[in-house]
Amino acid sequence: TTAVSLRLHKLSRSLFIFQETMYIEENTYKNDMISLIFLLKEKVGALAKVLRIFEEKSINLTHIESRPSRVNKDEYEFFINLDRRNTPLLTDIIKTLRNEMGVTVHELSRKKKKDAVPWFPRTIQELDRFANQILSYGAELDADHPGFKDPVYRARRKEFADMAYNYRHGQPIPKVTYTEEEKKTWGTVFRELKTLYPTHACYEHNHVFPLLEKYCGYQEDNIPQLEDVSKFLQTCTGFRLRPVAGLLSSRDFLAGLAFRVFHSTQYIRHGSKPMYTPEPDVCHELLGHVPLFADISFAQFSQEIGLASLGAPDEYIEKLATVYWFTVEFGLCKEGDTIKAYGAGLLSSFGELQYCLSDKPEIQSLNLEKTAVQKYPVTEFQPVYYVAESYLKRNSCFHKSFCLFSFRRFASSIPRPFSIRYDPYTQRIEVLDNAKQLKNLAESISSEMGTLCSALKKIE
Ligand SMILES: [Fe+2]
Repeated sequence: TTAVSLRLHKLSRSLFIFQETMYIEENTYKNDMISLIFLLKEKVGALAKVLRIFEEKSINLTHIESRPSRVNKDEYEFFINLDRRNTPLLTDIIKTLRNEMGVTVHELSRKKKKDAVPWFPRTIQELDRFANQILSYGAELDADHPGFKDPVYRARRKEFADMAYNYRHGQPIPKVTYTEEEKKTWGTVFRELKTLYPTHACYEHNHVFPLLEKYCGYQEDNIPQLEDVSKFLQTCTGFRLRPVAGLLSSRDFLAGLAFRVFHSTQYIRHGSKPMYTPEPDVCHELLGHVPLFADISFAQFSQEIGLASLGAPDEYIEKLATVYWFTVEFGLCKEGDTIKAYGAGLLSSFGELQYCLSDKPEIQSLNLEKTAVQKYPVTEFQPVYYVAESYLKRNSCFHKSFCLFSFRRFASSIPRPFSIRYDPYTQRIEVLDNAKQLKNLAESISSEMGTLCSALKKIE
């Protein structure tokens, strides 16, 4: 169209460089087409340079359009179509772009091409990209949602959604002045659940809860601020919260955990049904998830689920999401001879917290290979729960050795052509694919081993 050519004309006069992101998406509508999307940053000359690479291979682009990037204001996204017959040349082109521009090129294929590794964030800042990839915007409620017919509630939900949508890593999470009605809803949930925790919640939850009351404003008449809670968690385990506008895909949500980032909602359920919510809300996050993220072993376990998900094939993302469901969301654990709840979906539901420890549901031992393929309902109480067995005598909800070791064995079965590790200093994911990185890693382990040996000697 004219608008597109005008924009292209304008863009090709200035220089652009390739950003780190570039991915291929197979066009689902026209099977004879391949679509390519890439991001360019304004700098002298690069769109023309990119187009020349296609021209040199005599590839005719059948469609090209651009739009300002919604993530970074000074970038543009380009969408191009080319004939599928050009597929053999595409690898070369991507290689040329990668080498000449000197950036990492990621390929993302919706049709599971065997050798394509799905894109994943390499830095904590790249989680910002998920903000506009939500599956549903928080303000759009289903017809059976308790707040569907309440225009005030819907407007409020849009405020929360916009706040999260505009949030970027590094900013403080905006503080919210909750209304009297919202505080009342929180108060009801808080009061009721608190009566169950001493008997139903795991050791870690009960251990951390008084600290949250002391330091983070967990009170019946006060909804804690995500920013305060996030700061507290950072001092405990390095976990932090980040507001989210709506539902993320499993892949994006799990990727956050790899960076010890938990995507958290900030709105509260509708006041007409304080004991029910069809979706996660601030009660679920603050009462269910937050206490466990303050536990070192649980934080480690959560991060390892996230790390295992990076670049994993779609079918394994589904398995990891299922493991997450039956542990982080709905997990039970043994404490001595009794069973307690550590899953956030249980710890934030007055009804289900009682039901899960009654004789009604089926209780099975956690076995990740089996648990990972268990089907589950999302809108009713779970018919099956999995209990983490303890090898430890100490009262401890998150059977440290059991869950981590068996999870690592499970994670090692995920096909991925490279190994990764998280560097907490730079907050980056390192892909361990060269000798220099491995040498650095060996040196850092060796230094830690030295510290460990000397500490062991001193306590002998
Ligand atoms: Fe949750």
